[in-house]
Amino acid sequence: MPQPYVLLSAAVSLDGYLDDTGPERLLLSGPADFDRVDEVRAASDAILIGAGTLRTDNPRLLVNSPERRAARVAAGLPEYPLKVTVTASGDLDATARFWHTGGEKVAYTTDKGAERLRALGLPADVDVVSVGPDLRWRAVLDHLGTVRGVRRLMVEGGGQVHTQLLRQGLADELQLAVAPLFVGQSDAPRMFGTGAYPGGPTSRLRLLETRPVGDIVLVRYAPTVPGTGGQPSAADRHWLDLACDLAAQCPPSRTAFSVGAVIVAADGTELARAHSREGDDPAAHAEEAALAKLDPADPRLANATVYSSLEPCARRSSRPSPCARLILDAGVRRVVTAWREPDTFVVGADGSALLAAEGADVVVLPEYEPRATAPNSHLLTP
Ligand SMILES: NC(=O)c1ccc[n+]([C@@H]2O[C@H](COP(=O)([O-])OP(=O)(O)OC[C@H]3O[C@@H](n4cnc5c(N)ncnc54)[C@H](OP(=O)(O)O)[C@@H]3O)[C@@H](O)[C@H]2O)c1
Repeated sequence: MPQPYVLLSAAVSLDGYLDDTGPERLLLSGPADFDRVDEVRAASDAILIGAGTLRTDNPRLLVNSPERRAARVAAGLPEYPLKVTVTASGDLDATARFWHTGGEKVAYTTDKGAERLRALGLPADVDVVSVGPDLRWRAVLDHLGTVRGVRRLMVEGGGQVHTQLLRQGLADELQLAVAPLFVGQSDAPRMFGTGAYPGGPTSRLRLLETRPVGDIVLVRYAPTVPGTGGQPSAADRHWLDLACDLAAQCPPSRTAFSVGAVIVAADGTELARAHSREGDDPAAHAEEAALAKLDPADPRLANATVYSSLEPCARRSSRPSPCARLILDAGVRRVVTAWREPDTFVVGADGSALLAAEGADVVVLPEYEPRATAPNSHLLTP
């Protein structure tokens, strides 16, 4: 089971704050936006908040609409999404509404935090999961995906949690409800903290949608920055998905695979994309065609990632150099792929090994294999 799709959701003031410094929670959203949030919750398998938000806001985190709850049940889902919190300290109030409303709950914590939480007298249906001496987000997301079967995770704050997930390249999407007011208090909690973000300040996110909701504007963005080394980022999934889309656009062939490829710079800028047999060249491979669109001296290639729906070829008869060689010669040292090459045309092809032998990181995301093989199914039936 892959990691869940991670959606960061918050309402923010025009000056970027999540709340003010007063004792009561500042209501940034209006009724129409609260209803929108309810809809997003109902479409999620789990909703996560940090312990800071649990302590400060004491939220219930429910799906409020009876119709949406009924639709979940009719679809075979639990009435309420799983509620999730993270705490290192385990310093939480056992009477908080989070524990006593809705459906199942899980608290991810550290070894020390788990001791404290288990001594709190939480309701018996709360699952306390320690991920070790420190809380690692990848371990939390892996557990949610593999053990809890969560495919879509809505994260509802607060600032520390949003900042960590975004910085670690684990957020697939940001949903910001921008409220027409100013907080103006420098010590109020911000949506995102100071410090380095993936790709640096020149890196731009991809705009997915803007929509007025009452007097609020909903803005949806997706991060674009590739992961580093063998660690996949959420944006890696987006780019590989695009490579699979491109594979579906190839002119059909009985003698070659249909493959899509995208080359992306370290700041998330798309440098080139291509698919097999592009430009009426029956022998063109996707990675080769994408590289051919770039100046070989482009300095961005050294830190770029090549996304290819099928692993780059290690041997080919139609050209002097296979794609794995072309990628290495271009200076690229990171490749993300969905599907290892089967023996259909070349027995024992192992482009990944060729790349790895010369120091390239190859990341295989097998959850995309069905998308990569779909345009090639006529070549795979025995
Ligand atoms: N406007 C909105 O949409 C919105 C939504 C949510 C929250 N908020 C506001 O945000 C504020 C709370 O934000 P916040 O940044 O203070 O808190 P937060 O992000 O909700 O929670 C931070 C806490 O989560 C735990 N945690 C986070 N990352 C961890 C890690 N890597 N390892 C272990 N534990 C980790 C820690 O708990 P322990 O301290 O227990 O170890 C940490 O103190 C409140 O004012 C709330 O009203 C606003």
